Amino acid sequence: MAKVGIFGAGWVGVCTAVCFAELGHEVVVRDVVPEKVDALSHGQMPFHEADVPELLERNLERLSFTLDVDDVVGCDFLFVCVDTPPTYSGDADLSRVWTVVDELPELPGHPILVMKSTVPVGTGEKIRAGLDHRGLTHVGYASNPEFLAEGTAVRDFMRPDRIVVGAFDSADADAVASLYDKIDAPIVRSDVNSAEMIKLAANAALMTRISFINEIANVCEATGADVVKVAEGVGLDNRIGSKFLRAGIGYGGSCFPKDSLALKQLASNSGYHFQLLAAVIEVNELQKRRVIGKLSRHLGSLRGKTVALLGIAFKPDTDDMREAPSIVLASRLLAEGATVRAWDPVADVSKLPGSVERADTVLEAVTGADAAVIVTEWDELKGLATAEVRDAMRNPLIVDGRNVLDPAEARRAGFVYEGMGRPLAPNDVNVEA
Ligand code: UGA
Repeated sequence: MAKVGIFGAGWVGVCTAVCFAELGHEVVVRDVVPEKVDALSHGQMPFHEADVPELLERNLERLSFTLDVDDVVGCDFLFVCVDTPPTYSGDADLSRVWTVVDELPELPGHPILVMKSTVPVGTGEKIRAGLDHRGLTHVGYASNPEFLAEGTAVRDFMRPDRIVVGAFDSADADAVASLYDKIDAPIVRSDVNSAEMIKLAANAALMTRISFINEIANVCEATGADVVKVAEGVGLDNRIGSKFLRAGIGYGGSCFPKDSLALKQLASNSGYHFQLLAAVIEVNELQKRRVIGKLSRHLGSLRGKTVALLGIAFKPDTDDMREAPSIVLASRLLAEGATVRAWDPVADVSKLPGSVERADTVLEAVTGADAAVIVTEWDELKGLATAEVRDAMRNPLIVDGRNVLDPAEARRAGFVYEGMGRPLAPNDVNVEA
């Protein structure tokens, strides 16, 4: 079993650490925030992610957390799991990555620096040159991008579709691949540049599918087709597949928005205008705003109206609100003069901009509301269309931003219902003055 050092106790670092420990490796995680290191050392999680607390508890004897960079000395692998947020120009900010490289202590033997963070193509070559310049020619380098999705990170790690390893030296690639010996998945071996591009291209492909189906949804609305049926019929074609064809109010999260910008900038920095990706990003921005149009069509002016936002995390099973569509929605509604009330089972409503009222229950959120908007498809919302909810609302309008509900059932229960890309009921539009 190997000794693995991990830089960064954020979401990627901690998920990677507990999974490597579960595979039997000895893992030391280094971070610069004392409270995080202290909490993790006591088995406490700094974020919400299914199955990670259990793995942390079960493998505590193989895991250590430290502030001291010298504690990684003696590790066979040094994984870089720091964040690479967008800069003002949309490029990825690599300052934390470079801090890790610059702070590497004297390292005996032949440790391998492994990049898990998402970085622009060409980063590995620059780091290789930087290591050589510092006289660290004995330190290997590999790119091993992560494909974990929030909410399913442990399953994605243990049962991945593939593992990508890019290296300058085939022995280094063999060594990194051997860390995953217990995992049954194809290993894609490549050069470092291609491994870096695989990660960016995979996320771009997924985002393209989402913006594609959202545009189909918008055309469905204009023509009277139902995008849920359309996606089913299209997705059953084996060449297309059914995943990532759920229409809605657009993607958010800590990865897609930043990675799309980073790839777009990477292309334009190299003199290429990535038109398709630019359109994917723009479609996503417009999609979030369509909810406002739907509300106005039913309610007229939103000034003085109360709107309940149901779910504010960027997707279910996480408390992450980074780039969540709820943030844009809340801001737009407040700008229109609406009163905004929000409910989420785990995400923190106080992170929304402006003065959004927090509701502890779905019923509290909808009581007296002129409209309820399903923003995140939490399980709790699947049974929203009840008589109790209808009677609690001032106006029984549901805008289903994730197509969670059955339109016919919701209408039978007495709601005015509008989904994304689904036909309107014949007499649905009831604009008030
Ligand atoms: C995504 C990728 O799925 C991971 O493979 C990748 O490792 C990760 O980014 C990353 O780069 O670190 P994540 O952001 O956690 O993972 O979440 P997803 O489940 O991919 O969802 C992203 C967004 O797309 C969510 O806002 C979701 O609501 C939206 N989405 C997803 C749709 O609107 N429609 C769909 O059909 C699928």
